[in-house]
Amino acid sequence: MADLSVQFLGKTIPNPFLLASAPPTAFGENIMRAFDQGWGGAVLKTLKPDGMVIEDARPRFAAVKDAGGNVYGFENFELVTKRSLSDWVHEIAEIKKRYPENLLVASIMGDSRGTWQEMTRRVQDAGADMVECNFSCPHGMPEKGVGMAIGQVPEITGEITSWVRDVCKVPLLIKLTPNVADPRVTCAAALDAGADGITAINTVQCLIGVDLETFKPKPVVEGYSSYGGYSGKAIKPIGLRVVSQVAGTMQARGMAPAVSGVGGIAAWEDAVEYMLVGSTTVQVCTEVMLKGYGIVGKLASGLSNYLDARGIGSPMDLVGRTLPWITSHEALSKESAVAARVDYESCTSCGACATACSDSGYGAISMNGDGSTPRVHINEQRCDGCGLCALVCRAGALAVCSH
Ligand SMILES: Cc1cc2nc3c(=O)[nH]c(=O)nc-3n(C[C@H](O)[C@H](O)[C@H](O)COP(=O)(O)O)c2cc1C
Repeated sequence: MADLSVQFLGKTIPNPFLLASAPPTAFGENIMRAFDQGWGGAVLKTLKPDGMVIEDARPRFAAVKDAGGNVYGFENFELVTKRSLSDWVHEIAEIKKRYPENLLVASIMGDSRGTWQEMTRRVQDAGADMVECNFSCPHGMPEKGVGMAIGQVPEITGEITSWVRDVCKVPLLIKLTPNVADPRVTCAAALDAGADGITAINTVQCLIGVDLETFKPKPVVEGYSSYGGYSGKAIKPIGLRVVSQVAGTMQARGMAPAVSGVGGIAAWEDAVEYMLVGSTTVQVCTEVMLKGYGIVGKLASGLSNYLDARGIGSPMDLVGRTLPWITSHEALSKESAVAARVDYESCTSCGACATACSDSGYGAISMNGDGSTPRVHINEQRCDGCGLCALVCRAGALAVCSH
């Protein structure tokens, strides 16, 4: 196994894989069990002040499944922890005593300057390695003026970050919401106010579906539902976009990216993608909820094999490697001379490409032939090189190539 250790905001961690703030980190004893199985660190389920009343609805989860029955997108409207700050402080101390090498991040959500600062002091005094401010929960908490209600307003993000910064002696992360027009603005507000790094993303606000028989929105809670947070594989493209924007914002300020990437990581390949766009650590929630802590074995061996096969000495060497190739649309070449090409060996002559091109493209694909064996024909003069045909081809017989 390659050396998978990473340095994140001054701490060396055995590997970049962290449990995200969520049900898998709701109890100290579970976190320690996860560390035994190989997780490099964990972000505690968000802590709250003892005076904040938390009441969860039941059920609070729903899912979109693919044709094979696997969960592809996941909705929750779970709130922050219901457990007391004193219980948590005790558990932080116990975890750090037993697992000093693992990264323990305390996610917190206050409701006043006093509570933000008191929570920061108590978790750092108990031994938390870092503090992560949850400015991003999209359901329930914004109705109380916290969670995403903070992260959607740069001025409030900056103000609360500076309250926490004033007393925070350990590295300070701000967890951003993707539910904004431009996360670079919120990121800049957090950095200006003294944040050391960014965690991105929290869940994407959603309404996951409607029961066609009852007309009720899902998940149904005694006849009603509410907007929730979308997570799992479906949100990875949004997470990659936000992480790359945040990492780019840091680079533009002359900082090395200090980002913990999260959103739809289900396999080691996803983690590598997050690192390539600027994450140093990666967090996982939904995939652990569905498959358990044991997935860390495959995450670590997959990353190790990937590094070995390419002669890359450390996961740190992946961080941000893709960023130089992300540019504005205006800067993209409009001159590429490309057209669709078909591989007749694998083409099944199903005609899906011709239908797509005829109804949504440039009418460049036709099914020619003697009637019994239709054959794809591409008119390169008409083809605009958009790539739709290659996406609808189930046989992988089409590609967009240079003329
Ligand atoms: C059931 C559930 C509860 C969550 N609770 C929290 C929380 O308390 N604090 C927080 O910052 N994020 C919370 N999250 C968001 C996750 O930490 C993570 O940002 C999000 O789910 C995206 O990652 P994933 O696609 O790996 O699940 C929760 C997510 C889920 C699914």
